[in-house]
This record gives sequence, structure tokens and C-alpha cells, in this order.
Amino acid sequence: MREKVVLSGMRSTGKMHLGNYFGAIKNWVDLQEKYRSYYFIADWHALTTDYDDTTQVAENSLEVLADWLAAGLDPERSVIFLQSFVPEHAELHLLLSMITPLGWLERVPTYKEQIRELKKRDLSTYGFLGYPVLQTADILLYRADFVPVGEDQASHLELSREITRRFNNNYGDVFPEPKALFTPTPRVPGLDGRKMSKSYGNTIDIADSPEVIRAKCQTMFTDPTRVRRSDPGHPETCNLFAFHKLVSPPELRDRVERECRLAQIGCVDDKKLLADRLIAFLEPMRLRREELMADKGELLNILRKGSDRARERASETMRRVRSEMTLDYDYLRADPLEAT
Ligand code: TRP
Repeated sequence: MREKVVLSGMRSTGKMHLGNYFGAIKNWVDLQEKYRSYYFIADWHALTTDYDDTTQVAENSLEVLADWLAAGLDPERSVIFLQSFVPEHAELHLLLSMITPLGWLERVPTYKEQIRELKKRDLSTYGFLGYPVLQTADILLYRADFVPVGEDQASHLELSREITRRFNNNYGDVFPEPKALFTPTPRVPGLDGRKMSKSYGNTIDIADSPEVIRAKCQTMFTDPTRVRRSDPGHPETCNLFAFHKLVSPPELRDRVERECRLAQIGCVDDKKLLADRLIAFLEPMRLRREELMADKGELLNILRKGSDRARERASETMRRVRSEMTLDYDYLRADPLEAT
């Protein structure tokens, strides 16, 4: 059987945080052992919201790459590349845009939601409406079977499947229908208890130094019903404990849980314990990342190499697409073998 292809991407929004790590990257690292994996940095997708100031996009792409590599994505095992280094994404996006009804795009729940949420930005652009069409091109270009994404991407993947069916029915079977791979991920709360997200400013980043982690831990929300030190705590609703579950060894986790319920340990002490664990957990990644960021030329080389490999598969797909759409022109020659 053909080896299954996995593909996923992230927008170049800058430094990755623990939510990105536990919610996606860690899973990608595991998947690269089992599948033919393609992971890319969606710098063009970053422009759909950040088109007015594009000065940080390139720098952000390298920050993302450094985090990925530090977290264990391996350019030898996976094809790691940059969207804009593979111009076929733009070509396929254009062709798919021709067969995508406006109504399908306007119905995507994230579309209106985001326009409402990001009020500061004018998102009434052609590019922003077409975001999921570009995403579909990203996926189909590699004829991916599986797309590991978070639940928030479900509607985009549904749309991708619809566009795939429309293409295959209209022109010929080129693409497998890509399936979303929703892998169970732990809840990663932010410092304030809401979902960890860069836009909320409540993150702990892979790049954070021990001092920064300590300071951030001190500001973390804990069990709101535990007002006095002598009140018993409720680990199941406490943010600190959610993090213990992610980064602490079982002995420490169990001890904290027990002592918190009995009010033997206070939130301040617990924050110190947690900070130590977070620092130890992130230390190897942070150091590796620092090394990587010290040589941006080398990071670019890695992206160039990966993108060349990605392009091999992408250009093969585009040959088939042009052929099925009778747009390859060379078929009009009397002797097709003369094709250049
Ligand atoms: N939209 C995805 C996100 O915000 C990023 C993305 C762009 C993507 N193209 C993709 C994810 C293709 C999977 C496949 O997370």
C-alpha cells in the first residue's frame, strides 16, 4: 500500500507557546515516525490578517521554524518548508478559486466570527474570504490523506473536502479527499485561565527564560474558591494543576494534589514548584532554539532545502492538474513527444 501522506501548517505569527506545543507540534513530532509528513509555515496565510504591516512576517517564519526544530520536528524525517517558497500554492489556489462558490466561503463559521472578533482590522478583503481556498490548495498540492489540526479547523477541512469533490467530479480524479486528524490534546489554559492564545497575551513560550517563567507563574490564576491559605483547594479547577498534569512527574503531581486539597501547600508555594518544573521541561528546547536562532542563514537553508523537496511533489501535482483541466497546451502538438 502507498505510504499515507500527512500535511499540516501554521501561520507565521511568531514564537510558539505551550498551547501550540501540546495542541499540535508534539503530535506532529510523533506522526513523522509513521507517515510521509509535510509541515509548512503559512506565511501567505499570515498576510490575510496582517496585510497592513508585513515587516514581521519573514522574521516570524524563522521564529516558528526554530521552535519546531527545537521541539523535535526533524528535516530528515519530514519535509519542512515555507509556503511562499513553493509558488505552486498560488497557482492551485487560483484554479480552485474558480470552482469555489462564494456561498460556501461566506458560510464558514470562522469567517464571520473572525471579522467580528478582529474589529481593529478591516477583513472585508478578497484574500481573507479566500483563506480556506488557499488552505485547500496547501493540502491538495501534496495529495495529503490526513491533516492533523485542532477542532477549530473542522469547518475549513469540511470545505476542503467539498472543493476536492467538485474538482474531481469536474475534471478527473486527481486528489484523495483529505481527512482531518483530530488527535486528543490536553487542555492548555493560559495564565488567566482562558485558552492559551497569543491574542490574549496569556502565553508561556518555548523561548521564555527561567526568569520570565517565574514571573509569569506568579501571575497565574489559581482556584478562585480558595481565598485563604487555610482553605482547601480544588486541583480539578486550578490552572496550576492543569500544568502539573502536563509537565510534572507523577510523584510531584500526586503530592501537590493531595496537599492542596488538605491546605497543606499554598498557592504561592505551588507556583514556585510549578515554575521549577516548567523551567526544567522547557530548558532543552529553549537552549536548542537559541542556538538555531543564532544562525538565521542556516535556518533559511533548511527552509530552502525542504521547500525544494516539497516542490518536487507540488510540481508533479500541478502537471496532473493542468493535464486534467486540458491546460497543459502541449497536448495540442502533433507530436506530443516534442513537448519541452
Ligand atoms: N488555518 C490553519 C490554522 O490557522 C493553518 C493552515 C494553513 C493549515 N494552511 C493549512 C493547516 C493547511 C492545515 C493544512 O491553524
